[in-house]
Amino acid sequence: MELLNGEHTAELLQAQAHVWNHIFSFINSMSLKCAIELGIPDTIHNHGQPMTLSQLIAALPIHQSKHLCVYRLMRILIHSGFFGQEKVSENDQEEGYVLTDASRLLLKDHPLSVTPFLLAMLDPILIKPWHHMNSWFKNDDPTPFDTAHGMTLWDYCGHEPKLNHFFNDAMASDARLITSVVIEKCKGVFKGLESLVDVGGGTGTVAKAIGKAFPPLECTVFDLPHVVADLQDSENLKFVGGDMFEAIPPADAILLKWILHDWSDEECVKLLTKCKEAIIRKGQEGKVIIIDMIMENKKGDDESVETQLFFDMLMMALLTGRERNEKEWAKLIFSAGFSDYKITPILGLRSLIEVYP
Ligand SMILES: C[S@@+](CC[C@H](N)C(=O)[O-])C[C@H]1O[C@@H](n2cnc3c(N)ncnc32)[C@H](O)[C@@H]1O
Repeated sequence: MELLNGEHTAELLQAQAHVWNHIFSFINSMSLKCAIELGIPDTIHNHGQPMTLSQLIAALPIHQSKHLCVYRLMRILIHSGFFGQEKVSENDQEEGYVLTDASRLLLKDHPLSVTPFLLAMLDPILIKPWHHMNSWFKNDDPTPFDTAHGMTLWDYCGHEPKLNHFFNDAMASDARLITSVVIEKCKGVFKGLESLVDVGGGTGTVAKAIGKAFPPLECTVFDLPHVVADLQDSENLKFVGGDMFEAIPPADAILLKWILHDWSDEECVKLLTKCKEAIIRKGQEGKVIIIDMIMENKKGDDESVETQLFFDMLMMALLTGRERNEKEWAKLIFSAGFSDYKITPILGLRSLIEVYP
C-alpha cells in the first residue's frame, strides 16, 4: 500500500486531525469538570463584572506554580462556549472573563443548576463502565456497569450511600429544570387530575412541584426503598417504597420521567402494562405521562443529534435501556395495550408523551 502519494496528503492529514479530535473529546468534559470543582463560574459571577486573568488567579484556591495554567484552562472553555471575554470598562482595553448562558446554569446557587448532574455523570464510578465496554460486548453481562462493578446500577446505589446521594441529587437537579418548563408550558396535561404517581420519582422534586402547582392534586412518589427511606410525607405528597415491576399504586395518572429509557423493550412493555393496571380513570383523563427523548426529531441540528446519541450510548453503558424514535415508542405503547398517544415536543431534547388507555 502506498502510504503517501502527493494528492492524498491533504485528506490523510485531515483524517488524522479528525481522529485526534475524537481521541481527545473527553478533554472538553474534564476541563469543564475541573473548572466547576475549582469554583470558576461562581468566582466570576461573584466578581460582578468582567474578571481579568490576574483577578481570577488571585481569587482561586490554586498553587502559585499553576498560575499560568489558568489561562490555558480558560482558553479551551471559551472555545467550548462556557466563558466569554469583554472589555473591563469603556476606557480600558483590558479584557475580562464573563459567563455565558451555559456557565450560568453551572452556578452553585442557580435554582436550576446542572452542576450535580455534571459531577455525577463524570464521577469515576459512572466513568469506569466505559473502560469495560469492549469486554462487555464479548461476555453475557447485562451492562458494562455490571462488568465493571459486578452488580446493577440500582443495586450499587442501594449498597453505596455516596452513589445513592449524588445520583439522586443529579436527578433532582434535572427535575427542577424540566419541571419548571412543564408547569409553565404544559398546564393542560394535569387538568382534571385528582391523583398522580411519579414512578421512579427519586427524592420527589417533580411530584412536590406539580402538587404545589396544581392543588388539590394528590401526588405519590414511588421508588426503590433505599431512595425514599428517609423522606417525609407532607400535605398532598406521599412517599412509597417498592418495585415498579411488581405493582404500582393506583392513580388517575402515572408519571414516568427518564424511566423508560433505562430499560429494554421487554422490560418497558412489562412496566407500561403495570401502569395501565394502575390507572383508575379511563379515556383521555386517565393516562401515563412520559418524559423522555424521541430520537431523530431534531433533524439538521448536529449538536442535538450528537447529544441524543450520547444519551443512547450512556443507557447502553449503565443500564439495559436505549433512546427510541417515534416508531419504537409507538410499538412499546401499543404492545402494552394502550389505545393512543400524543407527543408534545417542547422540552428541548426531550418530549412529553401522553399515553391513553
Ligand atoms: C433515571 S432515574 C429518574 C429519576 C426521576 N424520575 C427523575 O427523572 O428525576 C430512575 C429512577 O428509577 C428508580 N428505579 C429503578 N428501578 C426501580 C424499580 N424496580 N422500582 C421503582 N423505582 C426504580 C431509581 O431508583 C431512580 O430513582
